Amino acid sequence: MKIAVLTSGGDAPGMNAAIRAVVRTGISNGHEMFGVQDGYRGLLEDKIFPLTSKDVSGMLSAGGTMLGTARVPEFKEVPVQMVAVDNLKNRGIEALVVIGGDGSYKGALALHNLEFQTIGIPGTIDNDVYGTDFTIGFHTALNTIVDAIDKLRDTSSSHRRCSIIEVMGRTSGDLALYAGICGGAEFIITPENPINKEKLIATLKKHNEEGRRHAIIVVTEQQFDVHKLAAEITIKSGFSSRATVLGYIQRGGSPVAEDRVLASRMGAFAIEQIMAGVSGQCIGVRNDKLITTPLDQVIDHKKDRAELYELVNKIR
Ligand code: F6P
Repeated sequence: MKIAVLTSGGDAPGMNAAIRAVVRTGISNGHEMFGVQDGYRGLLEDKIFPLTSKDVSGMLSAGGTMLGTARVPEFKEVPVQMVAVDNLKNRGIEALVVIGGDGSYKGALALHNLEFQTIGIPGTIDNDVYGTDFTIGFHTALNTIVDAIDKLRDTSSSHRRCSIIEVMGRTSGDLALYAGICGGAEFIITPENPINKEKLIATLKKHNEEGRRHAIIVVTEQQFDVHKLAAEITIKSGFSSRATVLGYIQRGGSPVAEDRVLASRMGAFAIEQIMAGVSGQCIGVRNDKLITTPLDQVIDHKKDRAELYELVNKIR
């Protein structure tokens, strides 16, 4: 059987480890493996090429994605999706593995609906994929953020400042929530846990009057202009504040051990599912067991984080 693999959406550390596992498991089961350049864009432009076991050598520890990635908004259109299916079929390719996040799964579901066998592997730093406890790349990004918070705490307590750290995550607060717990943040502001600005400022004013040496605020992106927020906190609370936007540094770097193991397990499992004839499902890990969930039950669903937000209140 001929099987292709692509990475889509924002890159995530561990995507290469997943590609490696997909390719090597496929080859060891007698299949011919193919890579697609730059996600769905490569499917449309027919940039599809064979991958050997040697081609993925050294990829376990490499950050980014060796296949390249892209965001392709026009892939929503059915005629565009049909071009992709034709290009795959013309090469005799019968199945596709899509490594990406929630957005990438919409394309995978579309191909499945056109009766092309497709399986999703969750690869995104955002951890926004329902149907898996963790996505590939989340732990590496989390470690990068926690390292940054530890460093920012050093300088903010030296200067007696409040430090606002903006992290990625789009509509998911998981990076901010987990990093806030790991970094002992005083405030965690996420799409699931928005905050009343006046209340925040009043609390910081009190902290300042009590003589506290620092405060850490972790915020998910796209909620505030964090530099303006820092200026407002400084003026209204008297607690001198600075903002740091971590940005794309969160997406880079060699994957941590958790991501390498997760990517390897999921990559191998994806091929086993394809061999079993499964399509329109995505791979996940739950209670340390590999599982599959139909893509249409995963897309646009959110995980319940009530227990973790309660934890934040208990240990603050
Ligand atoms: O989905 C991963 C992610 O890094 C999000 O956290 C972020 O909002 C987005 O990608 C940024 O995307 P782009 O690389 O297109 O700017």
